[in-house]
Amino acid sequence: MQKDLSYWFQKATKEHWALAQFNFSCAEQLKGIVQAAVALRSPLLLGTSEGDSNFFGLAQAVAMVGAWRRTTGLPIFLNFDHGKSFETVAAAIEAGYDAVHFDGSHFPLEENIAITKKVVALAKKNKISVVEGEFGEIPGKHSDIHLNEEVTLDPSVYTDPEEAHAFVEQTKVSSLAIIIGNVHGVYAKVPRLDLMRLQKIQKRVESFLVLHGGSGTPEEDMKGAIRLGVVKINISTDLRAAFVQGLRDVLSEHPEEVTPSKLLGPSVELVQKAAEKNILLFGSAGKIC
Ligand code: 13P
Repeated sequence: MQKDLSYWFQKATKEHWALAQFNFSCAEQLKGIVQAAVALRSPLLLGTSEGDSNFFGLAQAVAMVGAWRRTTGLPIFLNFDHGKSFETVAAAIEAGYDAVHFDGSHFPLEENIAITKKVVALAKKNKISVVEGEFGEIPGKHSDIHLNEEVTLDPSVYTDPEEAHAFVEQTKVSSLAIIIGNVHGVYAKVPRLDLMRLQKIQKRVESFLVLHGGSGTPEEDMKGAIRLGVVKINISTDLRAAFVQGLRDVLSEHPEEVTPSKLLGPSVELVQKAAEKNILLFGSAGKIC
């Protein structure tokens, strides 16, 4: 029987490495990511945000990830990223996602806790091993390159260890998305992670700790976070940028090209390279014998 995602999180915790969660919104991005995991013999966690899944289709994402799982034989998991309501997360569970992230940070805390508990109960009924919770909104607009914009890195919004402890105790989530300087998207000002804060959170929180906003974060900070127990880091913008770079390269050299495989082939390769970089950095390479 295939080991579930929580098995891999536990193994990563023990051995001090992490899984990247690579988000995708089209089949070619997915192909590039899978090729990276195959080349480096890494377990693989994929993600789709609400927007990505609206574009791709929940059932379609599940079916295509399932096809890659069968044909590669790798442990490949699909997480629903930043589900903003009980209904959207329930739809992902119904469609067959392996893991879900309920982001109730836009609700008052009590309501967030109540809905998160409902999500945890539904996930348990459906034998889903990992439910990620979140309170306190992760800074940064969304996964994209925003080099002309400022992002406020205000330590007063960083995760408070006591609040995190209480949230996990009450909701029983298996993993918690924390804020320690990480931001969604890439900005001119490079964010630094507050590893002292992470250490304090780690001491107080029983659940797995996960980070969003991996793109544009200094490598040494991510390595430090992994050493201190972070088991998953989400990567989206870097893969989007790699995909678009591939398209731009082809179109600038061959503006008349109309064959999709020729237009998209270089994007697949660049996405693979970007994913490989993170797999090597996070230490999940070679974990599949
Ligand atoms: P980046 O776009 O900064 O990599 O963040 C991705 C993310 O956290 C998705 O949940």
